[in-house]
Amino acid sequence: MRRSVLVFLLITVVILTFLLHEVSTLIALLLEDASADAIQKSELPAPNSTLLSTRPQLIPKIIHQTYINETIPPQWLPAQQACLDLHQDYEYILWTDAKSLEFIEKEYPWFAPTFRGYQHPIQRADSIRYFVLATYGGVYIDLDDGCKRRLDPLLSYNAFLRRTVPTGISNDVMGAIPQHPFFLRVIESLQGANRKWVLPYITIMASTGPLFLSVIWKKWMGEHADLEDTAGTAEEWKGRVRVLMPDEYSGHTWSFFNEFKGNSWHGKDAKLIFWMGKNWLLLTAAGTVIVLSLGLAMWWIYGRILLLGQKRRGYVAVGSNGSPSLVPTRGTSRSPRNSPRKGPSSLWKRLGMEGKKERYELVEQHDA
Ligand SMILES: *[C@@H]1O[C@H](CO)[C@@H](O)[C@H](O)[C@H]1NC(C)=O
Ligand SMILES: *[C@@H]1O[C@H](CO)[C@@H](O)[C@H](O)[C@H]1NC(C)=O
Repeated sequence: MRRSVLVFLLITVVILTFLLHEVSTLIALLLEDASADAIQKSELPAPNSTLLSTRPQLIPKIIHQTYINETIPPQWLPAQQACLDLHQDYEYILWTDAKSLEFIEKEYPWFAPTFRGYQHPIQRADSIRYFVLATYGGVYIDLDDGCKRRLDPLLSYNAFLRRTVPTGISNDVMGAIPQHPFFLRVIESLQGANRKWVLPYITIMASTGPLFLSVIWKKWMGEHADLEDTAGTAEEWKGRVRVLMPDEYSGHTWSFFNEFKGNSWHGKDAKLIFWMGKNWLLLTAAGTVIVLSLGLAMWWIYGRILLLGQKRRGYVAVGSNGSPSLVPTRGTSRSPRNSPRKGPSSLWKRLGMEGKKERYELVEQHDA
């Protein structure tokens, strides 16, 4: 086998292994139902239950939200007000763009260049929530998620995320104790994930958004599978991330949130971004198919080039008197006088042209 083919095969194997490795997390995500960490219905007291006060409180009573500035658009006001009204004993922090930048520059200067450099404002809105949860703890709530009941029962976990349908998790509602190891891991991963993809929406999803968070969450569980076994025991692993399931998120009398899905978030692409957020898995699958097709197309083109190269190389430079001349491998159109008389058999053999060699010899004999 030619060395170029070997190199190509090697590179292909490396790339495929890399792709499979990347895709395997996505496939694993697809299959992940979060049942091991789901917050069970039976764990949660009913909204007005007297059992509420018997639960420990780990997550501090802080609600974080983000917006461009202090002027919340009218369509979000009822949702925001519902959260404020239900949690008057909670601290409330609205992270405006200016406040977020100031916070990052003061507390996480190593991240400030990345934070400032994000091309899309929503990447800053995404990433700031991970940093404030890792720093202060509390519950982050998107402005379009109105509160329907008090969050208290959720404060008894070390951390929780929200499950999305059909798969993965979202970053629109999250809670954690300060310095929770999962959120520390998330903020450490942001710089590595800060890559540009062809489409801005994929860039947002994969660099700071739900896809980014889902991938880290899946890896986190894989890496700590042994610790997950301590679930429910006295020395339960602190890094465990519980998962708020769809029924507890919205749609029922016992759910925590009302969705006020409107249309104005950060900028005019909001609708599309929301749509992509809901359909990120579909988009990821489509992206994978495109990448694989491109790979196959490249393979095919490379094959063509190799074939062409072989055909060209069929004309080899040989000459009886030492001067190079072209000998055609096909047909006998050229004068046999130009063909080698002595010792070319090894060359013929190498080129696998035994049959043609015989033909030449016949012509030579005839000539002589
Ligand atoms: C809980 O109590 C409040 C105030 O008493 C009431 O408005 C609300 O409807 C109750 N929620 C449920 C689910 O019963
Ligand atoms: C807040 O941002 C919105 C949207 O960019 C803008 O229309 C509004 O004027 C801003 N408000 C203040 C007080 O700067």
